This record gives sequence, C-alpha cells and structure tokens, in this order.
Amino acid sequence: MSTLFSPLQLRGLKLSNRIMVAPMCQYSAQNGEANDWHFTHINSLALSGAAMFCIEATAVEATGRITPGCLGLWNDATEAALKPIIASARKRSKAAIAMQLAHAGRKASSHTPWDGGQLIPLSEGGWRPEGPSDLPHKESETPPLALDAAGLARIRDAFADSAKRAERLGLDALEVHCAHGYLLHQFLSPISNRRADQYGGSLQNRMRFPLEVFDAVRAAFPASKPVGLRVSSTDWVEGGWDIAQTIELAKELKKRGVDWIDASSGGVSPQQKIPLGPGYQVPFAQAVKEATGLTTIAVGLITEAKQAEEIVSSGKADMVALARGMLYDPRWGWHAAADLGGHVDAPPQYWRSQPSTQKALFGATTFGTR
Ligand SMILES: Cc1cc2nc3c(=O)[nH]c(=O)nc-3n(C[C@H](O)[C@H](O)[C@H](O)COP(=O)(O)O)c2cc1C
Repeated sequence: MSTLFSPLQLRGLKLSNRIMVAPMCQYSAQNGEANDWHFTHINSLALSGAAMFCIEATAVEATGRITPGCLGLWNDATEAALKPIIASARKRSKAAIAMQLAHAGRKASSHTPWDGGQLIPLSEGGWRPEGPSDLPHKESETPPLALDAAGLARIRDAFADSAKRAERLGLDALEVHCAHGYLLHQFLSPISNRRADQYGGSLQNRMRFPLEVFDAVRAAFPASKPVGLRVSSTDWVEGGWDIAQTIELAKELKKRGVDWIDASSGGVSPQQKIPLGPGYQVPFAQAVKEATGLTTIAVGLITEAKQAEEIVSSGKADMVALARGMLYDPRWGWHAAADLGGHVDAPPQYWRSQPSTQKALFGATTFGTR
C-alpha cells in the first residue's frame, strides 16, 4: 500500500494523493493576463497525476510582478483571462487547482530568466521596486523604495482582493508566497529588513507583515478551503533567516489556521551557499512537522517515485511538490503510481495508454470498439 497514493484531507478539500505540481513562473503573460501558453501548460500539468496543481506565483498588483511577463490576478482583465483556462482544466482533470499569491518586493522589475534575469532599469521600461527597506538585492542595483504604512496597507489589501478573485475563479486552495527572497520573505530576513518600526528588528516584528498578509488572505477565502504558505526555511547565509525562526513562524501560522507549510529555501541574498542534492530541503519540512505537527510539503530535487514514497511514508512530510521533474515528465504522477502500485485519474481519451502489466492504473476503466 503506497502512502504517496493515499488521500489527504485539507479542510473541505480531499486530495487523492500526496503529490503537488509546485508553482512555476512561466514569464509568459501580457499585462499579467494568462494566454494560450498558460492554457497549454495548466491543462497539460493538470493531467500529471498529481492530486494538486499549483498555479505559478501570481502577482497581487502589477508592481509586484517579478518580470513584465509574470501572471497576475489584480483586476477584471487578469481574472477573465484565467477563467476559460480553469474551466477547461476542470472539464478534463480531477486535480485540485491551487494558486500561489505573490509579491516580488525588491526583486520586481526583473528581466525574464532567459533574458538574464537582472533588474530592468527605469530607462529600459522597468519600474521602481518596493521593499521593507531601501536595500537592493545586489549592491550595485538602484535601491527599492522602503514601504510606508500606506504601502503596506495597499499590498495587504491587494493580497485579500486577489484571494477573493481566486475564489470567484473557483480555485480550491491558495499558497501565500513567503519564500525565495520575494516581498514577504524580505520582511522575515534580517538581511533585507532593516526597518526601525514595528515591522523590523525583533523576530516578532519581522514576522508581523507576513502574518498580517496571511490573516488577510485567510479571511478573504472561504473557511472550507485551505490556505498554505511557502517559506524559505533558511537564507543559507550566516546571520540570516534560519530554520529555528521558521519554526517560530510556523507556530504563529498554526494559531492562525495555516493548512500547510511548503518548506523551500534561499533567494534573499546573492551570498547564499546552497548544498544542493537529492531531497536537500526535506529536513526542513521534517523539522517544521516535528516541532508543530503542521501538514508539511517537501520540495526540491525530489525526482524518483521511491524517494517521494520514502519521504511521506517515513513521516518526514505529508506531501511532496515537484517542479522541474514535472516539466521533464508531465505524466510523472502516472509513472510513480505504476511504480508504487497506486492509481491515478486519467481522461478516457488516454485510457488506452495503460501498460498491459498495470490493468488498474487508471482504476476500473473499461472500453471497447467494434
Ligand atoms: C520554471 C520554474 C519556475 C518556478 N517558479 C516558482 C514560483 O512561481 N513560485 C515558487 O515558489 N517557486 C518557483 N520555482 C521553484 C519550484 O517551485 C521548486 O521549489 C524548485 O524548482 C525545486 O523543486 P524541483 O527540484 O522539483 O524543481 C520555480 C522553479 C522552476 C523550475
């Protein structure tokens, strides 16, 4: 019996297995609006066999996009663009659809990765990023504007507004992006947050804005639907954010009803030294789970079915999320189910692909021809 292919209940949402397609920026939107690329991408990966597909980091306001191509959900046009794509995925797939709500903070106004990923200056059509403090991500860059009280309120409200739009789109779950050196992580980390007010200094102060945003999103989304949070568990920099502080954050989030902690790492400092290797972030999910009892998602270089099975069956995490592995093998979940003796839902158009040795891979399917 595979634990990876056992169900998981998150509030009113029942997931048929423990696999999530991790959020993946596509840098392909125009004015934040999804298009034919997103249609293909979302519809394809909604059929991966993962019980949950998480839509990429989706900006809650235009200036919160990492790149000009980042997806958004801040106005009627961005909402309308996603509607037919989600409707199509619903017709073909039983996977839950989540969305990651995000604000890039000081890492906004960047070129797409395939154009080098560096800050786009104002003179080349970029915009002035905002952050907790006027500290740039890289020393040579123009500093961001430090957010004032009105700016904080605007962004908090934008997160709540996007959560309401996500509910109108019928999405099943939300993940608050508090990782990878983007705005909410910038508040947590002493590397990027040098504020002297109630949002900077002590751990309690640095957590304040991310917690306020979480509360605003939670309040704006139906109580029957889960809201999780992705955190960078460590900055991988001496004196930065670390796993001990992550556990304190998770405890605060638990009090506020968080439904999962998706334990990633890094992204706030170019000085980071990441010891990459298979499952290198799993110990963070495990540490949060052990300290808080919260549902955790392990992510990062999880590529093999047996590796994923071991992570969840040993109780290190409750779910796994895969990003690059899903792009490389968009039926990763099907192949993992075949390896582990699990079942996945597949659309009838594809039932005939079932291997002859795996008669129950797609459940009790029958088909005939004359
Ligand atoms: C193309 C691409 C886009 C990504 N975009 C996001 C994103 O929108 N939000 C996020 O939190 N992480 C993003 N990530 C990070 C992944 O979600 C994941 O945490 C990371 O790639 C490690 O998992 P993997 O080894 O399975 O790829 C992205 C990764 C890739 C490869």
